[in-house]
Amino acid sequence: MVGIVKTHAAVLRGRGQDWQVEEIEIDAPRPDEVLVKWSAAGLCHSDEHVRASDMGAADQHGPADRTGLFPIVGGHEGGGVIVEVGPGVRSLAPGDHVAASFFPCCGRCPMCISGRSNLCDLGAANFLPGQISDGTMRYHLDGEDLNVMSKLGTFAEHSVVHEASLVKVDPEVPLPVVALVSCGVTTGWGSAVYRAGVMPGDTAVVVGVGGVGINAVQGARMAGARYVVAVDPVELKQKTALDLGATHTAPSMEEALPLVTDLTRGRMADAVILAPSVVYGDLVGPALTLTGKGGTCVVTGVAPMSQKESSVDLFQLAMFQKELRGVVFGAANPRLDIPRLLDLYRSGQLKVDELITRTYRLDEINQGYRDMLDGLNIRGVVTFD
Ligand SMILES: NC(=O)c1ccc[n+]([C@@H]2O[C@H](COP(=O)([O-])OP(=O)(O)OC[C@H]3O[C@@H](n4cnc5c(N)ncnc54)[C@H](O)[C@@H]3O)[C@@H](O)[C@H]2O)c1
Ligand SMILES: [Zn+2]
Ligand SMILES: [Zn+2]
Repeated sequence: MVGIVKTHAAVLRGRGQDWQVEEIEIDAPRPDEVLVKWSAAGLCHSDEHVRASDMGAADQHGPADRTGLFPIVGGHEGGGVIVEVGPGVRSLAPGDHVAASFFPCCGRCPMCISGRSNLCDLGAANFLPGQISDGTMRYHLDGEDLNVMSKLGTFAEHSVVHEASLVKVDPEVPLPVVALVSCGVTTGWGSAVYRAGVMPGDTAVVVGVGGVGINAVQGARMAGARYVVAVDPVELKQKTALDLGATHTAPSMEEALPLVTDLTRGRMADAVILAPSVVYGDLVGPALTLTGKGGTCVVTGVAPMSQKESSVDLFQLAMFQKELRGVVFGAANPRLDIPRLLDLYRSGQLKVDELITRTYRLDEINQGYRDMLDGLNIRGVVTFD
């Protein structure tokens, strides 16, 4: 039996600060929990929202704020190996390879049993302090309790997490690939395939081609779209999109407008997936303008919690029967779709290695996020020895 584990973790102490790598203590797993050793963690933009305090900022009024967000161990995109299981854990055993699941899935709540485990009721725990199992704290630094991003904390060598937050995966798949599929890949792919419902012959527009959006490009192509227009101001993103299935690119939605008008003879896109770094209210109107009659606009990117207003053409929304839809985790079911996408990776149909622009040590994590913000990475990945 492993007792208290000392491990290194990237901790955020407050709004706008850098990540600090600290030696922290994690208590042994209690009932329904496991100790996992992370091998790789993806640098998803959602952790940057926490750092920039788009999510749970001190002057905002989200649920995370009410419970005190900082200090917090970051990271929710991860692939690792189970070290030890606590009492009552039946689905996982030491040595199992696992993907993080930033929405836990209990398998029993109304959302899970209706095939929407990305909306599992246990996900409410993400906005509450302490562990999913019993609300008590497992992570400590110099006697202070630490919060944990998405109850996962993949920016640490080890984590103690609820078994519902992990998905067992094929041990032959490299763990950095597992990490990317655990959030960015499935979120983007599912946004196009499940939430926008891209069909053969469709025109799809993906706005924001980072670690998430590039997979909406891959999903739209795989679903048989005739045109996939990738919109991003950064040249590397446009080039990568063309390599991975986009047929056209544009640097902005404004410049995509005449292109999509031309390609569709004015009918506009069947699907628009909005996945930029940060969603602001003024991005939704242009995205809906790119959306055609009967089309679907999916908002995948995360808005600041303070962003409450957006202006859309309501006349067109009704008369052109457009749909505006939110989405979390690509409307995918973690236990079904993570292994399924990893199989598509193994068969060569889904590209994931190509998305890992650069790997970093944990103590280079601030550089990794700077590179993301500077547009240098499709995805940066922290790897642990
Ligand atoms: N809904 C979910 O379940 C879910 C899950 C994961 C991530 N996200 C969110 O998705 C968004 C994207 O995440 P990511 O990790 O891919 O980020 P990223 O930083 O890797 O990529 C964002 C991309 O958007 C581009 N961009 C920024 N503003 C733009 C604009 N106005 N028009 C076109 N392109 C623009 C940037 O150049 C960049 O390439 C973030 O908001 C993230 O929090 C949502
Ligand atoms: Zn993510
Ligand atoms: Zn559930």
